[in-house]
Amino acid sequence: MSYAAKTSSIVRNKLVTKVHLRRITRDNFRECLELQVDDSQKGLVATTAQSLAEAYVDSNLVPLAVYDAAACGYDQPNVPMVGFTMYEIVAGVGFIVRLMIDCKYQRKGYGRATMVEVIRRIKLCPDVEIIATSYRKKNEIAAKLYQSLGFALWDIEWAKSHPTEIYVKLRE
Ligand SMILES: CC(C)(COP(=O)(O)OP(=O)(O)OC[C@H]1O[C@@H](n2cnc3c(N)ncnc32)[C@H](O)[C@@H]1OP(=O)(O)O)[C@@H](O)C(=O)NCCC(=O)NCCS
Repeated sequence: MSYAAKTSSIVRNKLVTKVHLRRITRDNFRECLELQVDDSQKGLVATTAQSLAEAYVDSNLVPLAVYDAAACGYDQPNVPMVGFTMYEIVAGVGFIVRLMIDCKYQRKGYGRATMVEVIRRIKLCPDVEIIATSYRKKNEIAAKLYQSLGFALWDIEWAKSHPTEIYVKLRE
């Protein structure tokens, strides 16, 4: 395959990547605990163990496993779990608390597709007036991804002064 054909097929594949989000249950939590990011990304996101512990004590949090869309319709997913996400809806804000894609499955469009799907879900809730998320100041990949999805700096007092985190909200 020529370079041009290869590049255009990668671009095409990433554009059509879709995900299936599913609750974490006793059937899939072990696979969730095994999800790993690259060593260089470890300071950017909490482990899934920590996230699941947070969700255990905070019923506002909705932790979800990320699968390729091919898993939809199967009681037992026929494809591996590729990532993890978690959101909450509090005080009119749908906040995407976590997003991570296992290092084996990164750069295939799953991160973007997960954000699109979580945003779709959050928008279904009538309580939500703002959709927001945050990332570490040094996380340039997340910054670019969220900007390209329509997120811009969240002009709210407590967020502006945060020492390590940038808070962004989806433009209306
Ligand atoms: C951020 C993260 C979720 C992206 O997941 P992903 O599945 O690799 O993302 P996608 O394949 O959908 O790519 C999204 C964009 O990021 C870019 N990107 C992803 N990884 C990249 C890398 N290592 N270097 C440069 N760009 C990268 C892609 O090129 C793509 O941009 P494009 O759509 O303009 O081409 C993943 O890198 C991750 O889990 N990182 C560690 C945790 C983290 O930072 N979470 C987010 C903040 S809490």
